[in-house]
Amino acid sequence: MTIQELESLYTSGLYTKRPIAIVRGEGARLWDSNGNAYIDCAGGQGAANLGHANPAVAVAIAEQAHTLVSCPEMFYNDKRAQLLERLASIAPAGLQRVFLCNSGTEAVEAAIKFAWLKTSRHEVVAAMRGFHGRTLGALSATWEKKYREPFEPLVPGFRHIAFNDLAALDAAVTEQTAAVILEVVQGEGGVRPGTAEFLLGAQALCRERGALLIIDEVQTGFGRTGVMFGCQHYDLQPDLLCLAKSIAGGLPMGAVLMGERVGLLPPQVHGSTFGGNPLACAASLAAIDYIETHHLADRAAELGAWFLARLKQIQSPLIREVRGLGLMVGLELKQKVTPYLQALMAQGVLALPAGLTVMRFLPPLVIAQDDLARTADVVEAVLTQPIKVAAELGDLVIG
Ligand SMILES: Cc1ncc(COP(=O)(O)O)c(C=O)c1O
Repeated sequence: MTIQELESLYTSGLYTKRPIAIVRGEGARLWDSNGNAYIDCAGGQGAANLGHANPAVAVAIAEQAHTLVSCPEMFYNDKRAQLLERLASIAPAGLQRVFLCNSGTEAVEAAIKFAWLKTSRHEVVAAMRGFHGRTLGALSATWEKKYREPFEPLVPGFRHIAFNDLAALDAAVTEQTAAVILEVVQGEGGVRPGTAEFLLGAQALCRERGALLIIDEVQTGFGRTGVMFGCQHYDLQPDLLCLAKSIAGGLPMGAVLMGERVGLLPPQVHGSTFGGNPLACAASLAAIDYIETHHLADRAAELGAWFLARLKQIQSPLIREVRGLGLMVGLELKQKVTPYLQALMAQGVLALPAGLTVMRFLPPLVIAQDDLARTADVVEAVLTQPIKVAAELGDLVIG
């Protein structure tokens, strides 16, 4: 039986899978079970900023696995203490308290609960095309109807306004609003950067009306957009900052960083068995060190600008727009993207969709410029030469 057959026998059925089995990675390269190599611009959906099998993270994980793996937050722990201090030291100004959890959706879920708790209000304003996860609170903030509809009615009190429409936000934020939740660059929603006017306007409205600003940097964090956190492009000071994906070099981890308007939370109202476990904390400490010592954010800024400019040179009637920030790049087509992703894969490049028509590139920030150049060449080839559409492979839906 092949890997694909075995997995298909027992899998939940929730994922539409590509037909390859990935068995090994190194840096920005992946290998399948037949020994084929790929340039990885899917980047673990944003969890692989440090590259696959990162040696510094691997050593930290191995050492900690031999020392202590489980230690719930009822006890203090050396690695956790160090990580809390480290996160507070790299965070945008004023975010000095940290809740640790295990994924992006958990970070968002916690941030929403904390906002309710602190404001004693229950309404949340989110953006159209926003994606914040799939637990019930985070899903209520998520826009895409194919994720929401099967589970409606969701949590009451959530509303969505057009992203980058400050007048709409102004009209939506009231004395009942507990929080406004936004991404700085919408990821799943199509790689759409927020404008400074909108994001700083959201901050001002929240301050003025007693709501809290939740910024979801699950995808944009840890160097992806050319700075450690996307907020820093705008000098934005959120009250709650949600992090996950690359926070621990690829290990599952999430965090909510909190500012003075949230302050210390009352005991027992929230928690997590695995949250702040020493294994993830050790991996995260190693990951943050690596991002800083290898200047991965600067790399993302330089390589991202180069890659964006190179993609913009492609002359194809299929392209509607190329946009992005750092190494978070989207190429919007005038038609469905699935067959083109399939064609890229056949030529050794893995990329993601973002909605139906956007090709999204989230390569590890350690990627070699030659690999990005090769990626752009392959993209150019599939968008300028007739391609064979592998209809039987179905839609590649990735969230
Ligand atoms: C901006 C954003 N928030 C939240 C999430 C949910 O994260 P997770 O899949 O770790 O629950 C994602 C996942 O893609 C995301 O991009």
